[in-house]
Amino acid sequence: MVFWLKSRQIASWILVPLLVAAWSLGMRARTPVEAGQNAASQKQPDHPEFPPGDGREAVMRLCVKCHSPNIILASGQDRKGWENTITKMVHLGATGTDEDFTDIADYLTANFPVSSVKKIFVNSATDKQIAEVLEISIDDAKALIAYREKIKGFKSLEDMKQAPGVDVKKIDAKKDCLVFGNAAPPPST
Ligand code: HEC
Repeated sequence: MVFWLKSRQIASWILVPLLVAAWSLGMRARTPVEAGQNAASQKQPDHPEFPPGDGREAVMRLCVKCHSPNIILASGQDRKGWENTITKMVHLGATGTDEDFTDIADYLTANFPVSSVKKIFVNSATDKQIAEVLEISIDDAKALIAYREKIKGFKSLEDMKQAPGVDVKKIDAKKDCLVFGNAAPPPST
């Protein structure tokens, strides 16, 4: 009897910590996965249009201070062209080492070469430009701009597809011609 009682007590002494340990192990097992996901999403900032490669990091570090890096997506250029753009940015106040700028020139030349695809900034394009690129009527383009003003700019392709009466298929077909984000650098404070 006494022994029985004791063993039950002992059992709970052992069982409770065991349960706690198992529970906390379970918690711990989940944490690294979550941490991994966080690290991954921090590594891949929200600019999937920029393919991975040497120089991407430098672009995201140095070319995002005054305007969205999306400004880069609108202009495909050869190496000379990109070097000229970088030189212009340095005159405007971009800072970095020579190595950074060489990496950026290499990266941009490789990933954003001269292209025949005409691109537009959807948030600053005129009705005429939008009509031309999407191959829609001027009236449809005007409606798109009215919606653009209402929602204070398209942040993504999805935003644009929400516009009333829009032909989603045409937007999808031309998505490589559409650059989101602001063309104009934000007003300096
Ligand atoms: C110190 C602020 C600043 C930094 C940093 C900066 N830019 Fe700019 N960028 C500007 C301004 C201002 C304009 C608008 C110039 C104009 O309208 O003439 C601009 C415009 C552009 C344009 C549009 C085309 C053109 O030539 O006007 C591109 C492309 C561009 N920047 C690329 C870059 C790249 C690549 C980097 C990183 C090396 C960079 N920018 C860093 C200020 C900056």
